[in-house]
Order: sequence, then C-alpha cells, then structure tokens
Amino acid sequence: MEKVLTKLTKRLDSSFYFYDLDALEEHLRYITNNKDESIKLYYACKANPLSSILKLIRNLGIGVDVASKGELTQVVASGVKSCDIISTGPSKSRGYIRTLLEHEINCVVVESIYQLKWLNEQAKELGIKARALLRVQLEWDSQEKSVLGGDEVTAFGLDEATWSTINLSEYENIEAIGFHVFQWGNILDPKRLEEVWDKTCERINTLAETMNITPEVIDLGGGLGIPYQNQDERIDFKDINAALMRLKAKHGLKKIWMELGRFAVGECGLYLSQVIDRKNVRGQEILVLDGGINHIARPALTDQAFPCRVLNQEKKSTQMREFHVHGPLCTSLDKLGIFELPKDCDYGDWLVFTQCGAYGFTESMPFFLCHNLPAEVVSYKGDVMIPRTIKTSADWVE
Ligand SMILES: Cc1ncc(COP(=O)(O)O)c(C=O)c1O
Repeated sequence: MEKVLTKLTKRLDSSFYFYDLDALEEHLRYITNNKDESIKLYYACKANPLSSILKLIRNLGIGVDVASKGELTQVVASGVKSCDIISTGPSKSRGYIRTLLEHEINCVVVESIYQLKWLNEQAKELGIKARALLRVQLEWDSQEKSVLGGDEVTAFGLDEATWSTINLSEYENIEAIGFHVFQWGNILDPKRLEEVWDKTCERINTLAETMNITPEVIDLGGGLGIPYQNQDERIDFKDINAALMRLKAKHGLKKIWMELGRFAVGECGLYLSQVIDRKNVRGQEILVLDGGINHIARPALTDQAFPCRVLNQEKKSTQMREFHVHGPLCTSLDKLGIFELPKDCDYGDWLVFTQCGAYGFTESMPFFLCHNLPAEVVSYKGDVMIPRTIKTSADWVE
C-alpha cells in the first residue's frame, strides 16, 4: 500500500483521496451476509457520491438514498434501479417531487405538510399512488449533541403532535408504508443504538395507532459509528442484526430499513496531503499542509480529527512529538488536528489521514482561496484508477 501511495504522491503532486474498493466490497459483503432478510439496506449517497462506489453498492444489491436532484442524477447515471432508490431530505420542492415520481423511485420520505400535499398532487397528476414514509422528529430528554440534531429542533421531519393531526385518508394518492426516524449520528456502542431504536419503535407504534396506520416499514436511518480514535472499538454488524431482531420481536416490526453512510464507506478512504511548511509559534510545533478544510471539512464541523500518520513512517525518526496540523486557508478554523508524529516530520513529507471515505470532499469548502481541488483515486482488483484528477482554479473560477 505505501508503495502505491508513494507513487501517487509523485504522479499527482497535490492532495488526493484514495479509496480501497476491495476493502469496501469485503466490508459490505460481510454486512449483507450477516443481515436478516427483513432488513433492507440503502446507502446514504451524501456520504460519498463517487460513481465507482455507487456501482459497487448497486452490484451488491444495496439500495441508495438520495437527498437532492444532483444525487438522484448521479445515482441514476451509476445504474441504480429506480426500485432501489428512496429520497430523504427537508428541501423537496414541488418540481423535485415530480422528478422523483417520474423516475418511479421506491419511496419518498415525507418531511413536511407541503411535501405531503405536493406528493399527493403530483401523484394524482401522474395517475399513480406514491409510496411514502413519514419522517418523525422525536423529542428526547437528553443533552447530547449529534450532527443529526439529537434532541435539538431541526428541519428534519415533523413532530409527533403534528403528524397526529394529519388525516391520511385526505391524501388519496399516497400510500403511507411506514415511518422514518433518524436523529443520532456516529454512535459506536450497539447497546446505545438499541436503546435509541427501542424508544423510537415504542413511540412510533403509539403514533401509528393514533394515525390508524399499520406500518409495513420502519426506517431507522444511519447512525452507526466508526472509530475515529484508536481506543474506540469497531461495530460488528452481527451485533446490529441481533439487536434489530430483538426489536422486531418486541415491537412486532415487519420490515426494517436503514440508510447507512459513515458505517458503509467511512473506513475505505484515505486523504493524503503534503507538508508545505513547519514552524514553532509561541511554543506550538506547527505543520502547514497543502490541503485542509477546503478538502476535508469534518474536523472543523465536528471538532473531531481524522486519525493521521506520516507516509513511509519507517523512514522517519522513531521518536515522536506533538504537532498541530493546519491547512492552507486564511481562517483559524482550518485545523486538521493535533497528532503525535515522528519528530523529524517536515516540508515534503506526506500525511495520511484514515477513516476518510465518508463525509470527505463533498462535505468540504473547496473553492475558498482558489487552491487545487483534490483528486479521487480508486484501487480495485489490482487496478489503480483516477476517476477525478486534480483540478486547478483555472478549471472553475470565472
Ligand atoms: C436521512 C439520512 N439517512 C442516513 C444518513 C447517514 O447517516 P450515517 O452516516 O450516520 O450512517 C444521513 C446522514 O446525514 C441522513 O441524513
């Protein structure tokens, strides 16, 4: 692996992402081989919409969740069948809903009264019955924060009180097949996930009774974490499957859907960037990289670093020291973390960030300061391919 990466650093000479699709395939096969038939998996495209990842996911029979017209276009272009596409997201215009129906996707996750009205209206115009999941935002008595809101009020879905007032028989062209609830992201403890889902299922069953719906499906979203810190343990999907089966029996669930993002692809990706400068400022040893949050914004958004090492570490000092690693942007937000690295790390070295397959480049702020955009490289069955090469600002600035 180090040899392949070293070759790429010379060839590209600019920051890049690297995805190990063999590892991804093995991981996804493990998941699909260890899940009950009543669980249907979708991939949350927002985690990484690269076409080679989507094609691999398609070939393994995993569906895809899209959250925008752009994602829909990308997923359709990658050959995902319409019956394997669902659509979540709080911003669905009437026109977008029409497009989703014209593509005959499996199911629209309804997140507002307007979405409900427009879905019914557009389905009527097309002379069809649209399948829908109703997205519910639950109130939790917890102070914990989450990228998906947790207990905070967000734009995702509607609360139980609002859904309770809806008379679905007024929406003749909608078939409500169940509910969608997802508010907690990046949870590493299967027991904690089970607790959240247990409470969710209990409350959803009460709501279903009030609304006079017999749900065929409950979609629990994503939320399965990956370890960003060395001491954290990985989730084994067998434990998730076992937890879901317990909940299925306890709450009388028929089908369970999930849209996995981070857990599906997070571990297959690396981000590599070259050290441009080293200095000591007021006692802190600083490395400045070619790329930062313009390529990988998650550390600034979540205050959590990706794990980091130096490429070809065996050639460096065995003595380590603490470095504060910064990106190239003119904002103090552009920090990738504080790491123990060989003490002789210096300009010219490349740093390798791991666990970067999800919420990487497409979650970043690539245009600020007109730096290069990173390339995306995939390795699969012995071939190394560059589906997206480096782009300079000359490619996009007007
Ligand atoms: C509706 C929905 N489903 C699934 C996911 C994927 O979540 P995760 O990456 O935690 O699996 C997201 C992420 O934002 C989401 O918004």
